[in-house]
Amino acid sequence: MEKQVLFDEDYQAMQEMHHLYNSALKQLQIKFEVLNDEFNVKYARSPIHHVESRLKSTPSIIKKLDKLNCEISIAAAKKYINDLAGIRVVCCYVDDVYSVADMLLRQSDIKLLKKHDYIKQPNYNGYRSLHLDIEIPIYLSDRTEYVCAEVQLRTVAMDFWASLEHHLRYKSNKNIPSDLCSEMLDCANEIAKIDIKMQEIYKKIQKI
Ligand code: GTP
Ligand code: MG
Repeated sequence: MEKQVLFDEDYQAMQEMHHLYNSALKQLQIKFEVLNDEFNVKYARSPIHHVESRLKSTPSIIKKLDKLNCEISIAAAKKYINDLAGIRVVCCYVDDVYSVADMLLRQSDIKLLKKHDYIKQPNYNGYRSLHLDIEIPIYLSDRTEYVCAEVQLRTVAMDFWASLEHHLRYKSNKNIPSDLCSEMLDCANEIAKIDIKMQEIYKKIQKI
């Protein structure tokens, strides 16, 4: 409780951090919008189905810093939390996930800090997504700040599973029995097969 008060004390600094990370999300949203628009102009289709973004809430920041055994401060949050700004890019097909990721990483102002490919190597529970921790410059009135953001790229099918699984696992306070975890893993694997099948159908239709 005391830590919460300490963190909330520096209101101006909190506002500045909020502005900085919100600006990173805006810049990234525009980048994905530009890419999707270009695809529409050139190929009359959208590789990106939709984009979601969020700033990490103050209670979540405090919880994460506590878990990392770090002091509760804005400086520590900026230094140790890579997903203060989080953006989720939901694509139509698996190939789109990798194309859109490449298009982003080719941009000269984007620096890749860490990549975690949960599509090639799904999580133990079947979770699939491509995670990129990146750094993006934000041009302020008197300086440039380099801001870290977590970009999650996944297909609509992966998003369907992950959203429901998140709800079941994290939002319910119940311990999920292992047979149900195994059923959820089966669902994730089935969905992954359908994802590939839909992409194959799409490619065949393109050739007609
Ligand atoms: P580091 O970035 O390595 O410090 O670890 P992290 O705890 O941030 O994990 P990671 O970057 O791999 O994943 C963070 C986010 O991915 C989570 O906040 C979720 O949005 C998503 N995620 C990871 N694993 C799962 C999962 O099993 N199920 C669901 N639904 N989402 C997950
Ligand atoms: Mg992360």
